[in-house]
Amino acid sequence: MCGIVAYLGSKQAAPILIDGLYKLEYRGYDSAGITVIEGQQLATYKCKGKVGQLDRIVDQDKMEATIGIAHTRWATHGPPNDVNAHPHNSQDGTLSVVHNGIIENYQTWKKILIEEGYVFRSDTDTEVLAHLLEYFKKKYELSTQEALRQMLKKVVGAYAIVIIDQENPDVLLAARKSSPLVFGIGKDEYFIASDATPIGQYTDQFIFLEDDQIIRIDRNDGYRIFSLDNETVSGEIQEIDVQIEEIEKGGYPHFMLKEIHQQPQTIADSMRGRFDLEAQRLSVGGLLDHIDKISQMKRIILVACGTSWHTALVAEYLFEDIARISCEVEYASEFRYRNPIINENDLVIAISQSGETADTLAALSLAKERGAMTYGIVNVVGSSISRVTDTGSYTHAGPEIGVASTKAFTSQLTVLSLMAIQLGRHLGKVNDTEYQAYMLSLDSLASKAATILTQDDKIKYIASEIKSANNALYLGRGYNFPVALEGALKLKEISYIHAEGYPAAEMKHGPIALIDLYMPVVVIATNESIQDKLISNIEEVKARKGLIIAVINEGDEKIKAIADYYIEIPPIKEALSPILSSIPLQLLAYHIAVMRGCDVDQPRNLAKSVTVE
Ligand code: AGP
Repeated sequence: MCGIVAYLGSKQAAPILIDGLYKLEYRGYDSAGITVIEGQQLATYKCKGKVGQLDRIVDQDKMEATIGIAHTRWATHGPPNDVNAHPHNSQDGTLSVVHNGIIENYQTWKKILIEEGYVFRSDTDTEVLAHLLEYFKKKYELSTQEALRQMLKKVVGAYAIVIIDQENPDVLLAARKSSPLVFGIGKDEYFIASDATPIGQYTDQFIFLEDDQIIRIDRNDGYRIFSLDNETVSGEIQEIDVQIEEIEKGGYPHFMLKEIHQQPQTIADSMRGRFDLEAQRLSVGGLLDHIDKISQMKRIILVACGTSWHTALVAEYLFEDIARISCEVEYASEFRYRNPIINENDLVIAISQSGETADTLAALSLAKERGAMTYGIVNVVGSSISRVTDTGSYTHAGPEIGVASTKAFTSQLTVLSLMAIQLGRHLGKVNDTEYQAYMLSLDSLASKAATILTQDDKIKYIASEIKSANNALYLGRGYNFPVALEGALKLKEISYIHAEGYPAAEMKHGPIALIDLYMPVVVIATNESIQDKLISNIEEVKARKGLIIAVINEGDEKIKAIADYYIEIPPIKEALSPILSSIPLQLLAYHIAVMRGCDVDQPRNLAKSVTVE
């Protein structure tokens, strides 16, 4: 997804902007650019490719400018090339714009502007904004700020937009609608960015702009936030400490590998303050505050996308199996358009690492419109979903930079497992013996995750054996069926091997036709309660020369005897097994992708946070 960073202060802007773009790379992009006001003139540098290429064409040391905007582009309109890269400047060369989002009526305005004599060089909707701003200024004789306000009333779509005006070199203007934008308040300096990551090293004071808000930042007069109706609003300053080491690789070759290895710690962090074995206490704050109301809900609807949707599938098994509450899982992108039946007896839980996924936000707003109670399970503090839901719980996994979600997934599962057990206990569905068993299992999670990571070399070897496959199947049953989907997603999104996840019993209904000696089949077979069924599925695959890679409980001699390769994990209560059984699959996908020379942290075409539809 596009990334924005802007600076206004007393330091050289260019180094801050370029460094900020490097820190935004994880969002996924295909081109980059900056504009500064150098000697009272706009100076714009932009190119297709990586920030490193931009860095080489910008002579930062010679740039005295103390105001600038910068952008990494994830192409929505028009191919990745130098011309389509942001920033885009107005025809008269006085205004420069960076934008994240989609302007849905940009073609209508583009036609009008062309008739007014404006000449377009790019295919982007953002260039329309740059010329439209100039058009409003000149046609209605408005200031840039007032022209922006009037323009935003006329455009339809999502935007996080930042503007600099060479005629006002002391002012930054920005606005947001649906695409996130955060304002950082430093000492005699100000920052704007898509998230806190690129500016966390300069300040811990942030204001998250809300939809339909504009901010004017003046070097001499401070800042003012106001609505599209020009009413001043007071933004709430949030103190967020973005630790630099959290957004560096810490000696790992990739963020994804670092984040996989952080999981013993992040699983523990997601339980901190919510679980204490000695005190026999298990309580998730966001749930506890509303447990009477939530426990009377007739149904839980889980809405999410991607990996978070796989978490939702596991949560459905957890809430129905443990808390005995009816549960439904919805792709947020489908839920928002299918006119679903929702009412005040529903609890809609949105699961999202970024807290900014457009489809999940839209599903939430539909749920709120129709009277449901809403709950957010998000990782990014202060993100949009955390601010629009009635209540929620942070997963506390720390910044997840790798596009492929790993530690956020296991932290989401941990929090939802705690919630299901807490609700089940509150509703009298979990007796003392079961409660004790869950408590002991939960207490062992982090250490068992660490044990799995010690098998990295073995998993790397298995990866070397199957790295050249063109297709792969992932099979699982019960709690591990969603893990099969997640394992397949990990492989396909970073190694570009086509992979599909299936309930193991579904093999006979079609996928078995695909099995041959070139098809690796990964079977998550840690469910002791149905081990015989899983053994039958493995035999069916082997009868057709398929290659079996099995994730098994330590000491499972039966499956060891029939699998071509196996990865052992410490046994744990079945309901908690996805938290552990997913870790070997993360490592398997990682190593295969590295061996195939793929860009593991920024896979092609993917973005870390999909803030557009
Ligand atoms: C998962 O590895 C992908 N990066 C992607 O499917 C992701 O899970 C999805 O876009 C949802 O993101 P969110 O959790 O931030 O809402």
